[in-house]
Amino acid sequence: MGCAHGLVDHETMFSMDASAITFGRGALGELGARLLELGARRVGVFTDPRVARLPPLEAARASLSSAGIDFAIYDACHVEPKDRYLPDAISFAREGAFDAYLSVGGGSSIDTCKLASLHATYPADLLAYVNAPLGEGRPVPGPLPPHVACPTTSGTGSECTGIAVFDLASRRVKTAVASRRLRPSLALVDPGFTRTLPSEVVAASGFDVLCHALESFTARSFLRRPRPGSPERRPMSQGKNPWSDMGSLEALRLAGRYLERAVRDEGDDEAREGLSWAATLAGIAFGNAGVHLPHAMSYSVAGLVRDYRSSGYPGEEPLVPHGVSVVVSAPSVFRRTALEAPGLHLQAAVALGADVRGASPGDAGPVLGERLVALMRACRVPLGLSALGYGEADLAPLARGAIVQKRLVDNAPFAVDEEAMRALFAGALDYEVTP
Ligand SMILES: [Fe+2]
Repeated sequence: MGCAHGLVDHETMFSMDASAITFGRGALGELGARLLELGARRVGVFTDPRVARLPPLEAARASLSSAGIDFAIYDACHVEPKDRYLPDAISFAREGAFDAYLSVGGGSSIDTCKLASLHATYPADLLAYVNAPLGEGRPVPGPLPPHVACPTTSGTGSECTGIAVFDLASRRVKTAVASRRLRPSLALVDPGFTRTLPSEVVAASGFDVLCHALESFTARSFLRRPRPGSPERRPMSQGKNPWSDMGSLEALRLAGRYLERAVRDEGDDEAREGLSWAATLAGIAFGNAGVHLPHAMSYSVAGLVRDYRSSGYPGEEPLVPHGVSVVVSAPSVFRRTALEAPGLHLQAAVALGADVRGASPGDAGPVLGERLVALMRACRVPLGLSALGYGEADLAPLARGAIVQKRLVDNAPFAVDEEAMRALFAGALDYEVTP
């Protein structure tokens, strides 16, 4: 690991960061006591209209009340939040005079809470803290109030990361703020609540988990990044490293074993709990390694959507669920990245349950790609961009929207320009035709 290339201008170290996490059934019952430990007296609670009516929020309210904590609830978080909805959430945070925050819901509620806390504490234009070239790339100026994140989907990983994603609708692309200061102080992961999830949501969030793990496992090595001038300039997306590899590989193994079962049967507690643990491990992994091309590509797949809707998700607006927008490009991407590191890709295929007996290094891409497509088919997610309404004419705008996701594109194991990006999208059009 040390001076691998003997080059002084390359990174030689990696950091291991994670939220404090309590995982297991009943975790939400500890919420009030844990917030008191963090010094909370008045808490701003972020959730969405659906979760607001479900048992997780009821459990959260009960725990806060029994601890004597004052709180106010913002239950208007949007799934895949658009920029125009954020000022409302920020006003709620600013006017509430909260000394701590709580998010209960999927990644969208957790991310909305992160952004509301950030902009209520350090007011600025929405794009001020977004990475260049889309935003100004300003660093978060200082610490944020404590934030306890309680995920209710087994996918996001947002409870473990310092990343908050939103939809920059004016530019028809999704983007993110990334800073260690956005990482929740504590994650309470209670897998019992994933029982209330529709199977389409389990499938989409499960593939998000799988891709967090697979992208972290195949990302550019941290040793290939330039050495930062000072410790605080070491990015969270450090690249593949020994710490992220442990979480990635175990998350892949769990996804290979449990994803299909968790989608097919909401009563399969072992599978849904296994997937929750996979989500947590993958969240820690990608929070330290960073994801790459499928996530970069997902931002334009989701941002350019015309009329696709997914059952299981609320609202009238066209929407490609995040996990679907990511995995739809994954077989195409990993067929290509396997050329860089075939052994690694075969290892990932084995973890996902593929039979690799007799496979040569040249088979790594096809074997992993086929395993991904088989899992997508089994979980009934769209088998290519054409199933989401995209065609040949969309390849150029899709590539343009993805190539500007510099933080993610730079974390890929090979250099990608706009032409290469277009080829990756072309390979993702229809897996029924090119399995
Ligand atoms: Fe994701």
